[in-house]
Amino acid sequence: MKKIAVFASGSGSNFQAIIDVVESGDLDADISLLVCDKPGAYAIERAKTAKIPSFIFSAKDYPSKEHYEEKILAQLKSYGVEFIVLAGYMRLIGPKLLAEYKGRIVNVHPSLLPAFPGKDAIGQALAAQVKWSGITIHFVDEGMDTGPIIVQERVRIEENETRESLQQKIQKSEHKLYPSILQMLLTQGDVINDTKARVN
Ligand code: GAR
Repeated sequence: MKKIAVFASGSGSNFQAIIDVVESGDLDADISLLVCDKPGAYAIERAKTAKIPSFIFSAKDYPSKEHYEEKILAQLKSYGVEFIVLAGYMRLIGPKLLAEYKGRIVNVHPSLLPAFPGKDAIGQALAAQVKWSGITIHFVDEGMDTGPIIVQERVRIEENETRESLQQKIQKSEHKLYPSILQMLLTQGDVINDTKARVN
């Protein structure tokens, strides 16, 4: 069973969806660690409840990304983490972590990339008045939401759509699709090895 770490910055509803499918036996993974860059985040409570260790840090306590990523890397190694799942982690992954894990880091983003990368993808889609948005699950490279796309799912934006209603639809889609794609990636080793070769 692969050892994974989940990285989150906020409420952690995707983290919870992953915990739930591991507990129900539909995802063959061992969630070995939560990495969280926001000391007050609700994701930390979810880790406690599920008895998952967490590494919590504040970027401002370190002189640079390289310094805090070095600490993260040491934690990942000490737990034997093989695969990283970003679930609402609102920081760019730097060269330090990529050097060790490139091809083995995935992210979920709340838009149909390459449209609306970066922060507030939902607000960006509403401001652009598009009729469809959605979610993208992709491998992580050094860019901002630019890595190879694994899968996308469309979500319709209605006339009277609000930020809350769109976020709810998008998260519903994420909570279902992300765990099932993780199951595919973690149990079909070749997919990871092939992609690692391509991404590197
Ligand atoms: C998710 O909707 C995820 O797609 C988004 O943050 C949310 C986290 O929610 N990620 C990004 O915007 C990354 N660029 P959660 O903490 O409830 O899982």
